[in-house]
Amino acid sequence: MAQEVRGVIAPGKDEPVRIETIVVPDPGPGEAVVKVQACGVCHTDLHYKQGGISDDFPFLLGHEAAGVVESVGAGVTDVAPGDFVVLNWRAVCGTCRACLRGRPWYCFDTHNAEQKMTLASTGQELSPALGIGAFAEKTLVAAGQCTKVDPAVSPQVAGLLGCGVMAGIGAAINTGNVGRGDTVAVIGCGGVGDAAIAGSHLAGAAKVIAVDIDDRKLETARGMGATHTVNSRDTDPVEAIRELTGGFGADVVIEAVGRPETYRQAFYARDLAGTVVLVGVPTPEMKLELPLLDVFGRGGSLKSSWYGDCLPSRDFPMLIDLHLQGRLDLGKFVTETIGLDEVEKAFERMHAGDVLRSVVVL
Ligand code: APR
Ligand code: ZN
Ligand code: ZN
Repeated sequence: MAQEVRGVIAPGKDEPVRIETIVVPDPGPGEAVVKVQACGVCHTDLHYKQGGISDDFPFLLGHEAAGVVESVGAGVTDVAPGDFVVLNWRAVCGTCRACLRGRPWYCFDTHNAEQKMTLASTGQELSPALGIGAFAEKTLVAAGQCTKVDPAVSPQVAGLLGCGVMAGIGAAINTGNVGRGDTVAVIGCGGVGDAAIAGSHLAGAAKVIAVDIDDRKLETARGMGATHTVNSRDTDPVEAIRELTGGFGADVVIEAVGRPETYRQAFYARDLAGTVVLVGVPTPEMKLELPLLDVFGRGGSLKSSWYGDCLPSRDFPMLIDLHLQGRLDLGKFVTETIGLDEVEKAFERMHAGDVLRSVVVL
């Protein structure tokens, strides 16, 4: 039986979000209905609302979520009703060339639920943000979007792994392959950069240099494990990083802003044999010009990191275990918990740079 629940929708470009009654169908083959317990507010939700991602309004927002599986459709074996799960927006196919070659984070065939949730009042189909739509009491997803984790962790912490925090930690430990004794510089210390700092610290980096233009962010970055901070408003960060690394540059530089000037800084702040990890997402019109001799002359590598190159079934349970053991404090990323009716206000606070994560708790 399809059921009606409350959810936060973005009705049209730049219009305020509002709570509506939505219809959640029974799960079809390969699908699951999840009772959402917590869902973080991410920049991407705001971009959906602003029309920056697609014109497919109305959107059902929210995608950094954890909850309990309520029901599953035919053929679902990996999760069962009652399982505590974290949702992810890249359910990989397991059979494409990328998957078969052991790089599922480049999967060509990620999928979401086939059925659509609808608006109860008009019957209009909803587009779930990143194929999830979890600012709602319940949501319909592909079963592959559910990863079972230890229910001892609080839902507001578990849900963080669904997007930004996983992207940052993964940029450090998966893409950057940060290891014991490495020097790391992280440019941009929002939620993603802070997670990259926490991931580098976890991986045993000897130095973790945080770079931002906002002193408040640098203060928070110290709490995440940064050993040094550089305010790049008044200091050249490339020079500062070189100075802090014996003149060499960092072994791994993680760019978590997504702008030409910070891409350039990341490019030049690495050790000649170092790795640049790009996790900040630029916009289509941004360009960067570099002398080819510099591109040729520097060894090492330049890598982009997609969702932290994570494999949810491998990484989510591991990071939650580390959190439960007290070795990685994911709780630091939750600035506040809010209700479904406070999402619009949370966007304003996010925009002002006041919060790391507001998390809707249901
Ligand atoms: N130099 C250094 N830091 C900067 C600069 C700059 N020129 N411009 C902005 N910043 C800092 C901001 O002060 C802020 O602390 O970058 C940080 C960006 O953080 P958020 O806006 O909170 O964004 P976040 O959620 O961390 O995402 C960062 O990663 O995955 C991507 O799409 C995401 O592109 C975005 C990036
Ligand atoms: Zn695949
Ligand atoms: Zn997100």
